[in-house]
Amino acid sequence: MGEAGEEPVVDLRLDRAHSARIYDYFLGGRTNFAADREAARRILSVFPAAGVACRMNRAFMHRAVGHLAREGLTQFLDIGTGIPTSPNLHEIVQGIRPAARIVYTDNDPIVLAHAAALLRGRPEGRTAYVQADIAVPGSVLAAPELHATLDLRHPVALTLNALLHFIPDDGRDRAHAVVEGLKAALPGGSALVITHGTSDFSPLAMGRVTDIYARAGTPLQLRSAAEFHRFFDGWELLEPGVTLAHRWRPGRPGDPGLPTAAEAACYAAIARKP
Ligand SMILES: C[S@@+](CC[C@H](N)C(=O)[O-])C[C@H]1O[C@@H](n2cnc3c(N)ncnc32)[C@H](O)[C@@H]1O
Repeated sequence: MGEAGEEPVVDLRLDRAHSARIYDYFLGGRTNFAADREAARRILSVFPAAGVACRMNRAFMHRAVGHLAREGLTQFLDIGTGIPTSPNLHEIVQGIRPAARIVYTDNDPIVLAHAAALLRGRPEGRTAYVQADIAVPGSVLAAPELHATLDLRHPVALTLNALLHFIPDDGRDRAHAVVEGLKAALPGGSALVITHGTSDFSPLAMGRVTDIYARAGTPLQLRSAAEFHRFFDGWELLEPGVTLAHRWRPGRPGDPGLPTAAEAACYAAIARKP
């Protein structure tokens, strides 16, 4: 905290690479700095498809939330939102249901600094931003902004895209515990959308990617298909079940521009709570 009357000083640690800014670089954004670009270039040297994988993840999010909005969901809780990249989730959802309500959450101060772009929703609807670390139990669910925007007695679409691989288990099954805590707080009819990096198709290259993130100070835990599947335990998977992000109801099936499994390196699925 600064002196009386001053705004608290937030250290963005621009000297260190950060997952949100590396991802922004891969998506062609401008909210990244020298350390992020250096880490991103090292990742590209061992995994040249990194940018493709990020774009496939983003395109899946567009299809997934569009589908859920068309199915009638009007409340969305997006955790690990990332630096705003248009179209953001609320732009897709409110384009279909203008009165939809969206809560965004991230723990990176740079996302907070850019959150204004996430709050320019349709006047009929509402968007809110919660700064919270999902690994701290209760931090998101206890946030007053969340309850001012969403009514958890009615179905919510919970989206955890490209987030959970940044929650390492450290021998304690932490990522699954986080997801189970969130699932338990949501009523029947809610939806769970997850994407997650995997080394199932190229263990050597993805092992190197994991090392680069670790050296940059961001532990990464890629998970197998079976570990990914377990996040949805007790909920009903929508067709086609667990698949690669670009293969989940693709807009143009058989498109020769679509990547291989090793290039996409990202599982995706959607489930509904019975
Ligand atoms: C790769 S980006 C994904 C952005 C967006 N969900 C997407 O799929 O396009 C991962 C985001 O998760 C956030 N994140 C990582 N660990 C987190 C945590 N413990 N709590 C909340 N957010 C976290 C990062 O700051 C980053 O913005």
